[in-house]
Amino acid sequence: MKNSLFNNIYQGRKVLVTGHTGFKGSWLCLMLHKLGAEVYGYALPPPTNPSLFVEANIGEIMASHIGDIRDYELLLKTLFEVRPEIVIHMAAQPLVRESYRNPRETFEINVMGTVNLFDAILQVNSVKAILNVTTDKCYENREWHWGYRENEPMGGYDPYSNSKGCSELVAASFRNSFFNPSKYGDHGVALATARAGNVIGGGDWANDRLIPDFIRSISIGEKVKIRSPYAIRPWQHVLEPLTGYLTLCEKLFAEGSAFAEAWNFGPEDKDAKNVEWITQTICKLWGNNAEFEIDKKPQPHEANYLKLDCSKAKAELGWVPKWDIETTLKSIVDWNKSFIAGDNIRIVTENQIDRYFAT
Ligand SMILES: NC(=O)c1ccc[n+]([C@@H]2O[C@H](COP(=O)([O-])OP(=O)(O)OC[C@H]3O[C@@H](n4cnc5c(N)ncnc54)[C@H](O)[C@@H]3O)[C@@H](O)[C@H]2O)c1
Repeated sequence: MKNSLFNNIYQGRKVLVTGHTGFKGSWLCLMLHKLGAEVYGYALPPPTNPSLFVEANIGEIMASHIGDIRDYELLLKTLFEVRPEIVIHMAAQPLVRESYRNPRETFEINVMGTVNLFDAILQVNSVKAILNVTTDKCYENREWHWGYRENEPMGGYDPYSNSKGCSELVAASFRNSFFNPSKYGDHGVALATARAGNVIGGGDWANDRLIPDFIRSISIGEKVKIRSPYAIRPWQHVLEPLTGYLTLCEKLFAEGSAFAEAWNFGPEDKDAKNVEWITQTICKLWGNNAEFEIDKKPQPHEANYLKLDCSKAKAELGWVPKWDIETTLKSIVDWNKSFIAGDNIRIVTENQIDRYFAT
C-alpha cells in the first residue's frame, strides 16, 4: 500500500481506535499500520469467537488496551498514557436485535461511552482530530425514497439506532461547547461524525447479520435461513467507509475545523439490493449447491431501507465507492474460502486491502 495515500498524514502519527478488537476495528488497525501509523486501541476483548482480531494477529501490530468504554477512570488513564493525535471512536454495542434484548446496556455503551471518551479527550489535550462513527440508522426514518442528507433530523426506532442518534447529538454538543469551529484557534480540535450503511466483509462473525449467518450455515452444510427477504439495505464493503473515515480524518488533522461536521458514506444506488438478491448471489458464488430458505417466524421491527445521500463526501472529500456489490460479494466468498482452507488470514486480508487501493 503506497504511503502517498491520504497525503502520508498517518506516517508516524499516534492514532487511537476504540473498538479495535471488532470487525471494522481490526480492518482499520491493519490499514493504519500499513500506512505507517502508531496504532493504539481501547476496547473489550473481541466480541466473537473466531474473530478477525485474533485470526489476523492484529494485536501484534499495535498497542491493544483492553477496557470498558464505561470505565471512565481507565479510559482517562489510557488516554494520558497514549496521548493520541487522532481518535476514531467505534466501540459500541452495534446490533439492532441485541439492543431489543438489552436496551439499557446499549444506551450506556453507545451514549455514555461517547460522553466518557469526549470528556477524557478534553482532559488529555493531545488530540487534534476526532471521528465519531455512527450509522445510517441514526436518522429519523420517514420512509422516503430519496437519500437522507447530513442535515436531516436524528431519530432511530429501536434502541441501537436511537442510541447512535443520541451519540450524534452528544458529538454536536461537545463540538458546540468545547470544540467549536469558530474558536478552532483556541482549542485546535476538529470533531466530525460518520454515518455508514450495512458494512460487510471477511472477518465478521457477529450474530444476527446476514453474511455471517450465511457463512456459518454454509460451512456446516446447512440451508441458510433468511429473514425479511425483500428488505433493501445499503451494503458496502468494509474498506469503503473505512477509506471514507481515513480521508475525513486526514482533512480534520491537516485542515481543521472546516470539516468538523457530519458525513455520509454509503454505496451507489445500484448496489442497494434486497436480502434475497444478496443471498442468491452469494449462493451462486459459493457453489457446492449452496441453498437458502425463508425464515417465516415473526421478526422484531427493523427500519425499512434508508438511503444515504453521499454527494457531500464525493464533492468535498473526493471519496467515492470503488467496489460494486458483485466485487464485494466475491471478495467475501474468497476471504471465507481462504479462512476455511486454513490460509494465513493476515496475508489474505492485507492482499484485499492492497487490491482495493490498486482499483
Ligand atoms: N458493521 C456494520 O454494518 C456497521 C454499520 C454502521 C456503523 N457501524 C458502527 O461501526 C462500529 C464498529 O462496528 P463493528 O461491526 O465492527 O462491531 P463489532 O461488534 O465487531 O465491534 C465492536 C467493538 O466495540 C467494542 N466494545 C463493545 N462494547 C464495549 C464496551 N462497553 N467498552 C469498550 N469496547 C466495547 C468491542 O470489544 C469491539 O471491539 C460501531 O460503532 C457500529 O455501530 C457498523
